[in-house]
Amino acid sequence: MYDLIVIGAGPGGYVCAIRAAQLGLKVACVEGRETLGGTCLNVGCIPSKALLHASHMAHEMHENFATLGLMNAHADIDWSRMQSYKAETVATNTKGIEFLFKKNKIDWLKGWAEITAPGKVKVGDTEHETKNIVVASGSIASALKGVEVDNAGGVVVDSTGALDLPAIPRTMVVIGAGVIGLELGSVYNRLGTQVTVVEYLDAITPGMDAEVQKQFQKLLTKQGMNFVLGAAVSGVETSETGPARVSYAHRKGGDAQTIEADVVLVATGRRPFHDGLGLDALGVQLTERGQIAVDDHWATNVPGIYAIGDAVPGPMLAHKAEDEGMAVAEVIAGKHGHVNYDVIPGVIYTTPEVASVGLTEEAAKATGRKVKVGKFPLLGNARAKAMLQGEGFVKLIADAETDRILGCHIIGPGAGEMIHEICVAMEFGAAAQDVALTCHAHPTVSEAVREAALACGDGAIHV
Ligand code: NAI
Repeated sequence: MYDLIVIGAGPGGYVCAIRAAQLGLKVACVEGRETLGGTCLNVGCIPSKALLHASHMAHEMHENFATLGLMNAHADIDWSRMQSYKAETVATNTKGIEFLFKKNKIDWLKGWAEITAPGKVKVGDTEHETKNIVVASGSIASALKGVEVDNAGGVVVDSTGALDLPAIPRTMVVIGAGVIGLELGSVYNRLGTQVTVVEYLDAITPGMDAEVQKQFQKLLTKQGMNFVLGAAVSGVETSETGPARVSYAHRKGGDAQTIEADVVLVATGRRPFHDGLGLDALGVQLTERGQIAVDDHWATNVPGIYAIGDAVPGPMLAHKAEDEGMAVAEVIAGKHGHVNYDVIPGVIYTTPEVASVGLTEEAAKATGRKVKVGKFPLLGNARAKAMLQGEGFVKLIADAETDRILGCHIIGPGAGEMIHEICVAMEFGAAAQDVALTCHAHPTVSEAVREAALACGDGAIHV
């Protein structure tokens, strides 16, 4: 009899299992993949970051080395070696989770789980008993009408197939200018592919701060990516011999258009995955968007069954799932697990990086409160300029009456690291002035965060 069986060993599930074991519970985790780590480690965050790193190096070599006095740099791209580097990166991380499971005495039940009744989880032919179940079964790429994804074929692919293309394509159409489309589109753009992104909305990265959206698109365009905005893709035709043909029409009217491409990446969002778990038969309630409905403590309507991560409402982010995993383990262990959904950062790992936390300027104003905005361009930051990356900015949003920080949006080198200063500040309910009065080492790009905070008060210095 286990205290807890976690279904799924992605960042939500494995973190939940480890925390529960640390709190003294007897824990098993069911995972059907060959390796632990879920989508994130196997076919998501980690392999894409390996390819982003490698392609960033290629981009630096082509675009910036000569300016730095590093002349005549040339590197042949060995795609299969780059793929091995990616696979090695994934393997060290997935094996790391295996080690952590052993260290924490967590049983890995290999196979796909079915919940046959509350407290009963069947894996293969064996039924395991447990006091509690946490469903952390994640998400999969959602289908787009008129488009058939065939990852094995290597022509019309989703994010999983795009990590594993047989060769670097000459041309690529990316459907959807969300995080996946821009990260993976960037990888291939930097490796020499001509990339066109077709996006339904009138701006890239839906939900982001409008100024960030604009600047980000400008910088990606400068890097060579093409954008077709306000256009809905209606179908993709493939043929044995020629390129794929992507049909789209502008939302505001006009004739249907087609673009040809060697590879088409479908990146139009993901949907919760809980197929085969038997949730229907158990009467577990779902939301109208197919997510597992949970209360403030991640409990479903069926006693003893909890759910976290991409399978439940909220942003589909590995770190949100991790936080929920830790918190639900604490709830099950009789403690007070908590997640502050107002302070969940989002990062796009392109160059420059884009990072945000809290409210955008638009969303803050929509709440009806008076808002002040402190913005600092990286052109005023010595370190960013020395790195030839002075084109971004930091934008801090604060309440005009209380000075409390409401959000922060950064576009620039290391944005994904710098954002955490503001996450901590927000967790402590800090005012912009608290950040402005904190000494920041010089020369760092983080000084730009302080300058944005100063801009919320009497003014930034270096602008
Ligand atoms: P997304 O929801 O971020 O973006 C999808 C885009 O496709 C939207 O802009 C939408 O307007 C567009 N679209 C939908 N239908 C279309 C059509 N017919 N024609 C043209 N455009 C269309 O989804 P994405 O990028 O697939 O990512 C899925 C999830 O994975 C997101 O929740 C994302 O946050 C997460 N993720 C996060 C990463 C990170 O944090 N760095 C990395 C990768 C994924």
